[in-house]
Amino acid sequence: MKYPIIAIDGPAAAGKGTLARQLAEVLALPYLDTGLLYRAVARRVLNQGGDPAHDGPEQARQLMPEDMRRDDLRTPEVDRAASLVAKEPEVRAALLERQRLFARARGAVVDGRDIGTVVFPQATAKFFITASPEVRAQRRYIQRYGQSCTDSAALAAEVAAINARDGQDASRQTAPLRPAEDAVQILTDGLDAAAVLEKVCQILQEKG
Ligand code: C5P
Repeated sequence: MKYPIIAIDGPAAAGKGTLARQLAEVLALPYLDTGLLYRAVARRVLNQGGDPAHDGPEQARQLMPEDMRRDDLRTPEVDRAASLVAKEPEVRAALLERQRLFARARGAVVDGRDIGTVVFPQATAKFFITASPEVRAQRRYIQRYGQSCTDSAALAAEVAAINARDGQDASRQTAPLRPAEDAVQILTDGLDAAAVLEKVCQILQEKG
């Protein structure tokens, strides 16, 4: 029997992780957050005092499973450094096989930027999850500080950081952020996590 692979791509803080985790639970599939791989490489580079734009490949080759379990992978510094290491074709090549191996035994729900285009072009189903930068900035703020942001300057700074990262992710040469041609695109402004999950489950059911 061939196990399903569900690809969930999209820009930063669009709610891909929440959706992918919940979907994996509903479908009883393993869940892989591929952003964590790039974050763990970035963390290693930063901890060694290296330059994220140049020192990613060596750290990617040395990546250990415990690197992905660190609790300091979601800081703003790592957000920026992860996007820089992710530009390097050698970093991406070093992480590609790990991602494919993960899904080999039992399939998976996998979230990232290039899952439907590069990592699993033959995925069973592909979704591209987006939301406006303002909505994503607010979600990211809530995730980080546990409450919504009422300070417009702080929110503007978050929007700028998200736009900078998406711009970098979408304009790189290797595996840029973009929807696969056969991905279902879902704009999640005004939808909560439960509504997005319901929509995705409905689409999967219709697909059979
Ligand atoms: O998804 P997350 O925000 O954790 O990803 C962190 C960074 O890792 C992204 O900004 C992107 O540069 C990179 N990434 C990538 N390809 C993926 C997943 C993440 O380039 N499949």
